[in-house]
Parts: sequence; C-alpha cells; structure tokens
Amino acid sequence: CGIVGYTGFQDAYSVVINGLRRLEYRGYDSAGIVLDSNEDTLAVAKTKGKVDDLVAVSEHLKGRAHVGMGHTRWATHGVPSDRNSHPHLSNNGKIALVHNGIIENYDTIKTMLSGHGFTFQSETDTEVLVNLIQYFMDTQPALEFPTAVRYALNEVYGAYAITVMHEDFPGVLVVGRLGSPLAIGLGENEYFIASDASPFVEFTRDAIYLEEGHMATISLENGVDIRSITDNSKIEPAIQELKLNLEQIEKGGYEHFMLKEIFEQPKSIQDTMRGRLLVDEGIIKMAGIWDHLEKFSNAGRIIIIACGTSWHAGLIGEYLIEEFARIPVEVEYASEFRYRNPIITEKDVVIAISQSGETADTMAALKLAKEKGAFIYGICNVVDSSIARITDAGSYTHAGPEIGVASTKAFTAQLTILSLIAIKLGKHNGTLSNVKFVELITELDAIPKKIEEVLESTHDKVKEISKDFINAQNFLYLGRGYNYPSALEGALKLKEISYIHAEGYPAAEMKHGPIALIDENMPIVIIAPKRGHYDKIVSNVQEIKARKGKIIAVVNKGDVQVSAIADYVIEIPDTSECFSPIVAAIPLQLLSYYIAVYRGANVDQPRNLAKSVTVE
Ligand code: G6P
Repeated sequence: CGIVGYTGFQDAYSVVINGLRRLEYRGYDSAGIVLDSNEDTLAVAKTKGKVDDLVAVSEHLKGRAHVGMGHTRWATHGVPSDRNSHPHLSNNGKIALVHNGIIENYDTIKTMLSGHGFTFQSETDTEVLVNLIQYFMDTQPALEFPTAVRYALNEVYGAYAITVMHEDFPGVLVVGRLGSPLAIGLGENEYFIASDASPFVEFTRDAIYLEEGHMATISLENGVDIRSITDNSKIEPAIQELKLNLEQIEKGGYEHFMLKEIFEQPKSIQDTMRGRLLVDEGIIKMAGIWDHLEKFSNAGRIIIIACGTSWHAGLIGEYLIEEFARIPVEVEYASEFRYRNPIITEKDVVIAISQSGETADTMAALKLAKEKGAFIYGICNVVDSSIARITDAGSYTHAGPEIGVASTKAFTAQLTILSLIAIKLGKHNGTLSNVKFVELITELDAIPKKIEEVLESTHDKVKEISKDFINAQNFLYLGRGYNYPSALEGALKLKEISYIHAEGYPAAEMKHGPIALIDENMPIVIIAPKRGHYDKIVSNVQEIKARKGKIIAVVNKGDVQVSAIADYVIEIPDTSECFSPIVAAIPLQLLSYYIAVYRGANVDQPRNLAKSVTVE
C-alpha cells in the first residue's frame, strides 16, 4: 500500500492525489483521501479502484484544505471495496488513519473494543487500530493525541507504517513505522509524508527516513518531533539529501513505464557497473565484497533468498557463483526458507536479492539468518530501503527507480551485480584463471552495447510476432543451463501482465510432463543461444516440432539448425554463456509487453499485483 500526507500552504488535495499516483505501483485496489479543512468534521472520500476513480468521486474537495492524507491500497484483510478502503475513521468520527502493513493481533483487540461498545464498518485490521486510539483518548481524557497513538502502537503486533489525523488537533499529523517504510519530506513551511520520496521530490530534497520503531508528530508550529514508540525517548532526526529526480519517475515519452524501463537497460546496466568494472586496470572494485572477501571465501556455502523476479536472478546467481567461485550455493524462496527451520550456521553467507528492499518475506528471512549468526548481504535497488539497512554489507544495483510492476531493468541489473560478484570471488579464490577473468570482464563490459543492439534489432520484429499470440491461452518457455531461469522469468513476465497462463521449464525436463500439453495451439518459446547445450536443445526443438507446437526461438545471429525448424526466429548477439540471460531477457520482456498491450491489459498496473509486497 502507499501512504501520502501533507501539511503546509499548498492545496493538500492536489499534493495528496498527485502523490498517490506516484505510489500506485504499491497497490491500486482502492484509494482514499481525508482532509482537515478547519471546518467541523474531517472530509473523507474513498472508493474501490484506482486513484483516477478516487478523483472522480472527490474533486469537490479540491482547494478546501492545507492538511490531508491519502492511501492507495493492496488488499490484505477484506476484499477491495469502498468500505474496506482507507482512510478509516474511529467510531466518534474524529480520528482518521491510513495504514500500510498488517496488524496481526487485530482480532484480540477487536474483541476487547467490541466489549467496550465499539462497532466496526469494515473487515480491516486498520479500523481496529484507529478505534484503539479513540479508546485511549476516551478512557484517559487528559491524553494528548500523539500519546494515544503511541499507546495504541504499543499494543499491536505486526508490521505497519501509519499516518493519523485528529479533528481536534488541526494541522497535526502523527506517523509511525514498524516494518513498512515511511519518509518525511522537509520543505519550507510545509511537510510531506510518503511511503517513498517520489510524491515530494519536486518540492524538497531534504528527507528523513523514519527508522523502525519510531514515530513522529508533525506540524507547522512544532516541526518534526521524533520519538521511540516503546519509551517515548526523543530522537534526533537524520536528514538526508534525496538523489531521486523527477525525470527518473516520469514516463519520458514512452507509453508505459515498462517500455521505458526496457529501453533504459543499456544505461541501467552501465550504471550498475560504473566505478566497479575497470577493464583497463583489470579489476572489479566493489566495496561491499572487497571489505568482506574473507567472509565470502571462507563461507561453507552461500544461500540466496528472494521472491519473484529477484528469485529468478538468484537462480542465475547460483550458476555464476558455483561456476566461477566454486562456492556451493542454495537458492530459496524467502517465504519457504523462513518457515522451514532451515540449517544456518555462522559460516554461511546469506544474500538477499530485492529490487524494492522492502519485500516482507525477504526481510523476515534475512532477520532469521542474522539471528542465527550468518553474514547477511543485500542486493537492492532502492537506496536506504529496509533490507539495505539491516544487512551487514551489500551492493546496490543502481538501476534507477523501477515503476512498472513487472520487473525488467532491475532484473538485468541484479544479473550484472551477481556476475561481478561471482567473477570477483573467482579471481580472489583462484578458481578463475587470469585469462578467463580478463575474457569475462571484457565481455561483461560489452553487454550494454549488445543490449542496445538487441533492442534495435528485435523490437519491431517482436512487436509483429506478438500480434499472432494475443489469443493464446497457454505458453511454455524452455531453456537449459543458465537459460533455464531465463525461461522461468520469461513465463513470469507473460503471466504477470497479459494474464496468459505460462510455464517455464528446463528444456530437457519437458519430456517428463509438459510435453503432454503440446499441440498445434501451444506456443513454445525456446531460448537457444549457441553457447550452452545447443545440440541438446536442437533435439528438444525437434521433439516439439514432431508434436506440432508453435516454436518461437531466441537464437544467436546466424543460427541455422534451430532457425530451420522454428516458426518464429528472434536473433540476439552472441555473448558468453553466463551473460546470455541478460541479453535474452530483452526480447522476452518485449514479447510479454506487446502481447499484453495488444490484449488491452494495463501493463504498468496488472490486476492483483503490487510492486512492493510489504505483507507476508
Ligand atoms: C512483487 C513484484 C515482483 C517482484 C517481487 C519481489 O511480487 O510484483 O516484480 O519480483 O515482488 O520484489 P523485490 O522488490 O523483493 O525484488
């Protein structure tokens, strides 16, 4: 979910609505706004649907207030509906609250409050929290509003970022954080609150990222007062300068963020390598690894944990690190790892991969690994994100803000970082010869150029091919070795944004099941670059052809054998096998993008998904 709050001299409605649009990537099942217009009551509007739907029912609130807050939701407790949308009001209608996260003990609190006569309009955990605040104010009339919020927060378990307003305390916003991010923007005579800095980047460059377990009371009169939720001790704010700029979070002429981000990849990969890959000097400089080389080299094994696309990057990381550094690697879904009582020792290095740096399961899995004494390392895209903060060390991917829900440039940036780490460790461990090291870094350095080339040479063709598959019901993606995870990622991209069912499989494993699905209606994407089991894959392609499957082959330029059998051929430049997933990702991203666009799907905001899943 996304939260925006404002107090200042501008029209709060416009600031909040524009801010919510920037945060829609965090969820868009429903949206709501509340304004404190110094009139008798708080003005609330909320609805199921997107921010545009909210605007349709709330435009009359424009220009009415200088204080307000809003919410864009990804449903957890309760279906997306007007009733379950935030903000939620307390029973007396005086307190409004927006919340990102989950209150785990809401049921117990609800029972207690019901016993005191409270009633509930929604099925949400959030409504319980706002009424708990009212309960403290009712039962202890001398209590200040921020103190009542603090008391309530001390009663709840779970994860949250909240913003609260009270009708009788005009101009005051109270915020709190445990587990979900919250940034406070400091302007001149105005303050902003948001789940990330994007809603206020054009107004101020100074921000405070609220730390875990802290809350703040914000008003024009008294500024920002930060306290510990547990003991109310005062905390000095750490003000940071934002690096984000407006251009990075706008579409820049592209129809969708996803297409913009696909086309940004030559630059984003370059940015990932900048200052790290120094080909002329023959070195890889990465502070995060450099400072802890012994930890890595002496590691009994490396465990990679992640979710979604980042998990696919992790699988390729396993191939890379095992091949070059010869350290055993395990890759796990964060959500499985944390709940299965895993064996973790102090000799383990646990790497978390996360674009957002906020994914709740990944975060919790990391905490578990840390508790057990493992060295924890983060590969995150969002600077200063929660995961980046709790890790012992890490490397940012520096791909720039990724707004499209389906991950593209963050994925290739993750692969680039993992390549750098594997090659660096291989050199250090002596498991990679000097000749091979030089060959690999020279090739990696050439990747951005090759991505440019592949964008140019495949874009129109893939767009054409996509038209033939808008009515497909299923897709299979097959690859071997390094490109088996590419197949998984290709399938994920397609299902996420086009809603066509797709499965990725190791090409050879096809014989043990998916082959039963193949007939003339089954499109099969084969990733078959010449380096890496090419002959074997030729046999798999023959097996598919014999069953009349429709083959879309991603092959190297000048390919003969697979091209002769395939129905559609997409040519990509040759590169080392280990980097081929980076290059092959591009046409697969374009294929899903165009199929989804032709099917009329909302590519940047696919149904039911969210960019950053901060619930477990
Ligand atoms: C969500 C997103 C995916 C992403 C996954 C992991 O499901 O929709 O695109 O891969 O979370 O996110 P992370 O930020 O941890 O990489």
